[in-house]
Amino acid sequence: MKKHVVIFEARGGSDKGKYGFRRDSKPIVDSFKNRGWTAEIIFYEDKDRGEIYRHTLDKADAYISRVNPGNLVDETGYFQMLRELVTNGVVGLPHPDAMIAYGAKNSVEKLKGTGIVPDDVFTYYDYETLKEAFPKSLKNGVRVIKQNRGSTGEGIWRVEVLSPEKYKNKKSIPLDAKLKLTEAKDNHTEEKTLEDFLKFCIQYLDGDNGMLLDMPFLERIVEGEIRVLMLRDNVVNIVHKKPAQTKDAFSATLFSGAKYRYDKPEEWPELVQLVKSSLPMMQKRLGNYDLPLIWTADFMLDTDKKTGKDKYILGEINASCVGFTTFLELSENIVDEVLALLDADAAISDQWAAFQK
Ligand SMILES: Nc1ncnc2c1ncn2[C@@H]1O[C@H](COP(=O)(O)OP(=O)(O)OP(=O)(O)O)[C@@H](O)[C@H]1O
Ligand SMILES: [Mg+2]
Repeated sequence: MKKHVVIFEARGGSDKGKYGFRRDSKPIVDSFKNRGWTAEIIFYEDKDRGEIYRHTLDKADAYISRVNPGNLVDETGYFQMLRELVTNGVVGLPHPDAMIAYGAKNSVEKLKGTGIVPDDVFTYYDYETLKEAFPKSLKNGVRVIKQNRGSTGEGIWRVEVLSPEKYKNKKSIPLDAKLKLTEAKDNHTEEKTLEDFLKFCIQYLDGDNGMLLDMPFLERIVEGEIRVLMLRDNVVNIVHKKPAQTKDAFSATLFSGAKYRYDKPEEWPELVQLVKSSLPMMQKRLGNYDLPLIWTADFMLDTDKKTGKDKYILGEINASCVGFTTFLELSENIVDEVLALLDADAAISDQWAAFQK
């Protein structure tokens, strides 16, 4: 083994420290050093793709991707580079296809029928389907429409029909109906007709991974979003994110004024149990990829209509650039996981080589 790992980051963004790196990447580099390995951080840019590819192939046993592909101008080149690296023997943390399978917004729809997401969730990949289906789903009540790219609430809209009683006897909401729209980025509101909103959404359907998730608005979001921070199959922390207590606020993002509290997994036994018991099912439903190294599952509370009891509903998974600045000591566990994985990988390759002789 080369005993070297490359960490990919993107330049810019609000998560960077004094030297332009993510504040939680340096601890990973140090933890590798403590174990007699080396690690380096490389900024990915399309123009340097060839050079980065050759360098990583030459020097590293594995890469750790810490880029939000949705924030790249075009993620195609980045994914292609990662795919080539994995094909040529570099261990991918995560593999680009796993990043998409877990982290894309349609993962929620892929879990339909399992009880951890609502039964009426839909994904739209083209304008014709959006225009046909969304006016019908909007008839079910207040919805949340989520774009796949971006993060921190950008392009995440709560959609309410103004005067819904007008359309009581209709099967779908007419295109000229007036909507109240609230964006999770900053909880600001706008009014548009349904037709104008649908046209506005075309931007979110553009490109390779363009899509929209349509799910019911869960009003108990005001009690907080509960983020489960995972290291592969281990629950390592819980973040309780309470939206600002202002009119219209539903967003759990920091910028929108939500308050965060950090809890130990022991304080959330039922949720931890739910996540642990759901992992094999989630893995299978989402394409049988290895679980990501660092990832999160974000839940909201809902009330079970039959039993009146609380239940947890999954709102999204983040698998591509999860930070852990509030628990920097996690870098030690992260590196332990990486080294265990590389060991297992090497053992399999050795066996295979012996078998071939
Ligand atoms: N179905 C829902 N019902 C109520 N509120 C919701 C729902 N889905 C999302 N939200 C609210 O909107 C916020 C943004 O949505 P979400 O986290 O899915 O998008 P995001 O922009 O990808 O965020 P992130 O930066 O965490 O990846 C959530 O934190 C939550 O407060
Ligand atoms: Mg979120």
